[in-house]
Amino acid sequence: MTLATKKLSLTINDRVIDRIDVPYTMMMQDFLYEYLNLTGSRMGCGQGICNACTVIVEKDDGSLEEVQTCTIGAHWFEGKRVRTVEGHGSHDASGAITKLSPLQQAFIEHFSFQCGYCTPGFVTGATVFMDQLKRKPIARAELEQAIIDALDKHICRCTGYVRYHEAVRDLVLKTPGLLNG
Ligand code: FES
Ligand code: FES
Repeated sequence: MTLATKKLSLTINDRVIDRIDVPYTMMMQDFLYEYLNLTGSRMGCGQGICNACTVIVEKDDGSLEEVQTCTIGAHWFEGKRVRTVEGHGSHDASGAITKLSPLQQAFIEHFSFQCGYCTPGFVTGATVFMDQLKRKPIARAELEQAIIDALDKHICRCTGYVRYHEAVRDLVLKTPGLLNG
């Protein structure tokens, strides 16, 4: 039996994917794994609860949105610009990572994770949070609650979340223009 397919075009980590046949019902997570060998976004619950599977969609106005891949079909991403966790750092011509993003580096420096299974989701969620602050700075007094609100939907079985939050707080405080008082 063959699955019915449909053409899918999108851009992932600046790579253009042009009209490839993808089953109608395939979830984005499976598409990333099986078609592109992008295995950084994790399959956790598979039910839209843990957010280990999220990726970034870069919207037309340049703002970022966090989207689950376990419950959303690959074809929902038609024409969109997607950034997976593999696309956050800097790369050389061969595609090898040469430098982590400031946020990834902050998570390492703060020993934010243990097994790391949830980390791609936290990288995604916190990157979107930083982007939101860049567009709409908040007061220093609001920062702690804002971090909780931004990352609360990400589930981690290993840590107490504290070091993830510390890393994000530290980076926000070090990054000019994210706070307005
Ligand atoms: S694996 Fe997608 S929300 Fe848990
Ligand atoms: S570090 Fe293991 S699940 Fe979060």
